[in-house]
Amino acid sequence: MSVQSAIKRKTAPDIRARKNGEPIVMLTSYHAHTAALVDRYCDVILVGDSLGNVMHGFETTVPVTLDMMILQGHAVMRGSQHALVVVDMPFGSYEASKEEAFHSAVRILKETHCGAVKLEGGARMAETVAFLSERGVPVMGHIGLTPQSINTLGSFRAQGRDEGSWDPILNDAKAISDAGAFSVVIEAVAEPLARKITKTIAIPTIGIGASAACDGQVLVLEDMLGMTERSPRFVRRFGDLAAQIDASIAAYASAVTDGSFPAREHLYGVAVTTTTPG
Ligand code: KIV
Repeated sequence: MSVQSAIKRKTAPDIRARKNGEPIVMLTSYHAHTAALVDRYCDVILVGDSLGNVMHGFETTVPVTLDMMILQGHAVMRGSQHALVVVDMPFGSYEASKEEAFHSAVRILKETHCGAVKLEGGARMAETVAFLSERGVPVMGHIGLTPQSINTLGSFRAQGRDEGSWDPILNDAKAISDAGAFSVVIEAVAEPLARKITKTIAIPTIGIGASAACDGQVLVLEDMLGMTERSPRFVRRFGDLAAQIDASIAAYASAVTDGSFPAREHLYGVAVTTTTPG
């Protein structure tokens, strides 16, 4: 049996087919070890450019490079077997032209072996989404709050909180869906608008701060595990890992200091060689 037929991963068409079906479960991961854990429960693993904030301590995702995304995308592919792995296209790797977007996306697919890419932007990116989709690159869209545009937005603020501002966001969703994306992330959008988008467009919506009306949900893994200091209002902390890690490291430091670690069971003895008298 070939390796390809032994491992059955979810595909972009599988996720596309989940519109109005069982909710799509998605989390981020940037490493092989967390990918292996996430893979047990999630349909989609997103190698998000949030790795710039979470792994590298950047204030925004703007400094993240294509090489950084490819390195971590490859690690996540090695750690997972079942979920569809989607790799974010970082700021500056796709906006200038649809051809530039295609070359960046092809590098991501060839060098990581992932199943799809994600890019930010609505109507303005529709031509690019169509260009990629028609050429064998499955695209997940990302509308509402688009963190890569922080320098023009000015702040990370929820979108669509007054009804008068809904039309451009609804148009973005329609444009991305009509262009051939297989799904779309909706970030930080008022609940009634997220509901309206989900009812209107043909592809699954995956919400982050966009309510349970969406066809699926995504969170940043480290936020939901309680590892990050600050997290947005839409995050539920399903764990308290920062406190557990802190306690474990404190216990290690005190065991090293008081000499109780390493103990007898952690030691290698000397092998005893017996010689038989001749
Ligand atoms: O980069 C990321 O983690 C994301 C999610 C917040 C959707 O784009």
